[in-house]
Amino acid sequence: MSSDLQFDANGNLRHLITLEGLGRDRINALLDRAVALRTAFADGARGPQLLAGRTIINLFFETSTRTRSSFELAARRLGASVLNFDIASSSTNKGESLEDTLATLEAMQADAFIVRHRENGTPARLAACARRAAILNAGDGNHAHPTQGLLDALTIRDHHADFSRLKVVICGDIRHSRVARSDVHVLSALGAGEIRLCGPTALMPRADDFPQCILVDEFDEAIAGCDVVIMLRLQRERMIEALIGDEAEYCSRFGLSAQRLRQARPDALVMHPGPMNRGVEIAGDVADGRQSVILDQVANGIPARMAVLASLLRPDRAMPPAFAATASIP
Ligand code: NCD
Repeated sequence: MSSDLQFDANGNLRHLITLEGLGRDRINALLDRAVALRTAFADGARGPQLLAGRTIINLFFETSTRTRSSFELAARRLGASVLNFDIASSSTNKGESLEDTLATLEAMQADAFIVRHRENGTPARLAACARRAAILNAGDGNHAHPTQGLLDALTIRDHHADFSRLKVVICGDIRHSRVARSDVHVLSALGAGEIRLCGPTALMPRADDFPQCILVDEFDEAIAGCDVVIMLRLQRERMIEALIGDEAEYCSRFGLSAQRLRQARPDALVMHPGPMNRGVEIAGDVADGRQSVILDQVANGIPARMAVLASLLRPDRAMPPAFAATASIP
């Protein structure tokens, strides 16, 4: 996907499809804005209604708990109206193309679409044909999950201002993970010292997919001395064949137990994008333990998504003439 699609003629972010190519300054600006919004909305305060009068449509073709609710809460708290488009009872089941569904909903003056789809490239495809609306990728196949990358970076930045000293390990089903890809993009952009990827051979990516990372076979070796440990779920729904042995074997080699965590730095952060499979990739006591920031990740999802929505839907984002003509009629 051309990352140019994400920018308008003035270099402003117009869609968010991937963090790849966004650059450190733009990412830090989004994270700074997320921090400001987090403060403005702290303790249930009514913060700035930056999206008053805007309409956001959730278009989720795959299941989701936290991402969909997080986008919805972020948009509502900023004053937007949110429509959760019901795919199951929609005309996409009657053969309507995704492009026509988008055009139809855009004609109802939707300002942004939050898109999750099992196929890589679907949000980019919609961004290429959107007339006016912003497209936000909420996860496509194993390609990208940019707001997860941002909220993960925000959670790490809350503890470590300087990424250049950080050793980060991402462990699990890297091959099928859009989270791993977006995390690597954001960590590299912010200058992380070392990014290690670890998992069973069958779930590891090709080395040239991640030229900026070190691929390590054994988790005990990969976790040693790390400041941040990011665990991933086994993406069973994306595995075409049975790529791994049984769960007990997986857990003993690649699961994060309290004992294994002791090989990381004493204050290492434990992260997981959710949903977790306790007792498979992560032990319950570690997920709930002192070093876990898993629920901070969830909490940070809201200001991170607010920052993206507010940046994409700038007040000056103009309506095209066809819409503008009707907009002035009371
Ligand atoms: C992830 C996803 O769907 O990409 N979850 C999330 O959005 N927080 C990871 C997963 O499904 O394992």
